[in-house]
Amino acid sequence: MERVALYPGSFDPWTNGHLDILSRAVKMFDKIIVTVAVNNKKNAVFTGEERIKLIEESISSYEWSAQVEVIQFTGLLIDLAREKEVNVLLRGVRQISDFEYEFRMALTNRRLAPEVDTVFLMPDEQLTFISATIVKEIAAWGGDLSSFVPNNVGRALREKYDT
Ligand code: PNS
Repeated sequence: MERVALYPGSFDPWTNGHLDILSRAVKMFDKIIVTVAVNNKKNAVFTGEERIKLIEESISSYEWSAQVEVIQFTGLLIDLAREKEVNVLLRGVRQISDFEYEFRMALTNRRLAPEVDTVFLMPDEQLTFISATIVKEIAAWGGDLSSFVPNNVGRALREKYDT
């Protein structure tokens, strides 16, 4: 049986931390569905389509990229998991401060769909401080993004912020 996990997130933008988590997960699962959450209420910098393209571009040179599918969704994650017949959700945890939110989300999803479990992975410790919010702030002020996001994402951010 194929081992498949959904890797959900806003990914606005996709960072080196997300890429690191994905590169670990492909060793544990046959297929990862990177699931870009598009929530109309949130003020996103990139559209769902743009985020998908940036993620696909950033992984295209890795030999494991064929194991990865990138999609977008709106709605409840567990509905998507059931539609795709996937019972593992993958999330990255950087530090203790992430834990409370992640714990709440994992248990909510479990209450809604007891057959679905959440698996947490830790990124490389050098990447634990990176967040999409910090990355956007650096981009807005024209800072060096090279150690935070893949090059294509850095270019796209500079275009968006005109920096
Ligand atoms: O990258 P993020 O913003 O921390 O990702 C959060 C995300 C998209 C995984 C979460 O908000 C989510 O699953 N949203 C979909 C709605 C849903 O299923 N909510 C119930 C779980 S709390």
